[in-house]
Amino acid sequence: MQDQPATVDGGSSPSRSDSPTSSMRAVVQDGYGTSDVLRLSQLPRPEIGPRDVLVRVRAAGLDRGAWHVMQGKPRLLRLVFGLRAPKQPVIGREVAGTVAQVGSEVTTLAVGDDVFGVAPGSFAEYAVGREAKLARRPSNLTWEQLAAVPISGGTALQAVVDAGRVAAGQKVLITGASGGVGSYAVQLAKSVGAEVTGVASAAKLDLVRALGADHVLDYDRDDVADGSTLYDVIIDIAGLSDLTRLRHALTPTGTLVLVGGEGGGDWTGGTIGRQLRARLASTLGRQRLTSVIAKERASDYERLALLLESGQVVPCLDRAYPLAEAADAMRRLEAGSVRGKVAVTID
Ligand SMILES: NC(=O)c1ccc[n+]([C@@H]2O[C@H](COP(=O)([O-])OP(=O)(O)OC[C@H]3O[C@@H](n4cnc5c(N)ncnc54)[C@H](OP(=O)(O)O)[C@@H]3O)[C@@H](O)[C@H]2O)c1
Repeated sequence: MQDQPATVDGGSSPSRSDSPTSSMRAVVQDGYGTSDVLRLSQLPRPEIGPRDVLVRVRAAGLDRGAWHVMQGKPRLLRLVFGLRAPKQPVIGREVAGTVAQVGSEVTTLAVGDDVFGVAPGSFAEYAVGREAKLARRPSNLTWEQLAAVPISGGTALQAVVDAGRVAAGQKVLITGASGGVGSYAVQLAKSVGAEVTGVASAAKLDLVRALGADHVLDYDRDDVADGSTLYDVIIDIAGLSDLTRLRHALTPTGTLVLVGGEGGGDWTGGTIGRQLRARLASTLGRQRLTSVIAKERASDYERLALLLESGQVVPCLDRAYPLAEAADAMRRLEAGSVRGKVAVTID
């Protein structure tokens, strides 16, 4: 599809837009399941409300959350996303692109602005987002790199800086260091001057070192709680390690930040109970045990944009796929082969 010129009509119409086209390509899922439920489809271009922003998508990031929605797991999530199939049939949330239309109440963005952030249904030529979840594009990244930032980078920022309060000189352990969230967490902890140990599979320890980690551990071979090092902060992104073990690896006044982990219960995913136990344990001792439920907000993407522009954080983009090969991108994620993130390009 050819880009349309971004012209503002600015008149009395309820929204301002570039030239509309009636249909678009999108990757949809009609039910829950493996990547075989994904198919490229032709859909009407979405309409926007007064507070919405229509983004002409240049690239979309694939994060683990999109996999959860595709699978409909943990099953409890279906109460929110849709009982038999997702209410939003187009997959993806992470977006990088150009504003094509704005609702009449949108004040901070205009047609033609290059943005990144969150817009549900981002695996499509157009997606609708809110201005509170879209930030201006930093100048030094490709669309694909940028699309790999919002949810993974935002979660890492909230875990390392806000919840973990990581400071210079602290010893920090990061599990899942080779993944979407972890690849940002390692760089963010290094950017404030921490001494970072990253945990990943043997095959990806080179990547974790390249991200800046001072030390690496192989989750199949090494025991993070063997007592050889006590950490001031643990950012626990993967592995669902036993809470008691993680606490043994913390200093007496250390902080544990629970972010995620796969392979728990089919209904709750194994993280909810863990987070509740951590909150309870935190009231009983001097260690601070907390968790992150990531918020999607432009203010965090603006904070990340500064770090991206200064080169302190660089998106770890494994590969970009054409939109028509989105299912292959998802298969790569499912297989555990991705180093950092994958994205799709919409041309
Ligand atoms: N709390 C929130 O708001 C929030 C937000 C975003 C994501 N999350 C959750 O955070 C987790 C990570 O997300 P992500 O996007 O970074 O996923 P991802 O890109 O798939 O990365 C997964 C990470 O887990 C590691 N891993 C895989 N199997 C492991 C095992 N048995 N033991 C230890 N580590 C293992 C992987 O290492 P190798 O690749 O080297 O095997 C990789 O580093 C997911 O559970 C996701 O749902 C939570």
